[in-house]
Amino acid sequence: EIKGLIFDLDGVIVDTAKYHFLAWKKLAQNLRIPFTESDNERLKGVSRLRSFEIILEIGGLTMSEEEKEKCCTEKNNLYLEYIYQLKSDEILPGVRKFLSDAREKGYKIALGSGSRNAKLILEKLEITDLFDVIADGTIISQAKPDPEIFIKGAKLLELPAESCIVFEDAAAGIEGAHAAGMYAVGIGTAENLPKAEIILPGLKGITIKDIINKLQIHIK
Ligand code: G6P
Ligand code: MG
Repeated sequence: EIKGLIFDLDGVIVDTAKYHFLAWKKLAQNLRIPFTESDNERLKGVSRLRSFEIILEIGGLTMSEEEKEKCCTEKNNLYLEYIYQLKSDEILPGVRKFLSDAREKGYKIALGSGSRNAKLILEKLEITDLFDVIADGTIISQAKPDPEIFIKGAKLLELPAESCIVFEDAAAGIEGAHAAGMYAVGIGTAENLPKAEIILPGLKGITIKDIINKLQIHIK
C-alpha cells in the first residue's frame, strides 16, 4: 500500500532550469565556452559539479578539482541572485493543490532533491509546510541516479521503500527511484522518461487518487 510520496524539486515543483541556465551561461561566457539552451537540457537532474564538468567538456577545457570547486561556488552565487527573486506564483500549475489534497487524504510527503538550495526554494514558494520531511543535497553523498536521496527520504518518513512513490522529471531520478525499490511517476514525455511506470505532462488537474488508480492498472 502506498503511504508516502517523494517529490523531486527542480522540474517537478518549479521550473528552475531557466535560472540554472542563466547562471551557467554567465560562467561559461567568462570561460569563453559556448553554452546553449539545448546544452542545458543535458544538465537537468545532474549534480552541480557534474554539470560543470559537462560544460568543461563542451569547451574542451580541463581544470583542477580546486578550480572546479571555485567555479561551482561562483555559479551558485549567480544562481542565488535569481532564486532570491523567486515568487510564490512560480510554483508549477496544479502542484500546490496536488500536495494539499494528498496530505488531506493522509499521505506523507517528502522532498527528494539533490539541490543544496532546496529549503530556500520551498520557502520562496511558500510551501515548506506542505512537506513532512526534507531530503536534499545537504544530506547525501551520492547524486541521482544513486538511490541514496530516496532511501533517506523514505527513512525520514519512517516508511519502507515499497510504500513510497517518486515524482521525477529526470531520467536519472527515475533510475534512482527504481534502484531504491520505488515506483516512479515521470513528469515529462514517454520519449524522455521511457522507464517511468506513469507519465504525465504535469500535475495540473491530477489527484493522488488518479495516480493510485493508474498504478494499480500498471502493476496488475
Ligand atoms: C537538481 C537540478 C540540477 C542541479 C542540481 C543541484 O538536480 O535539476 O540542475 O544542478 O539539482 O542543485 P544545486 O541547487 O545544489 O546546485
Ligand atoms: Mg528534476
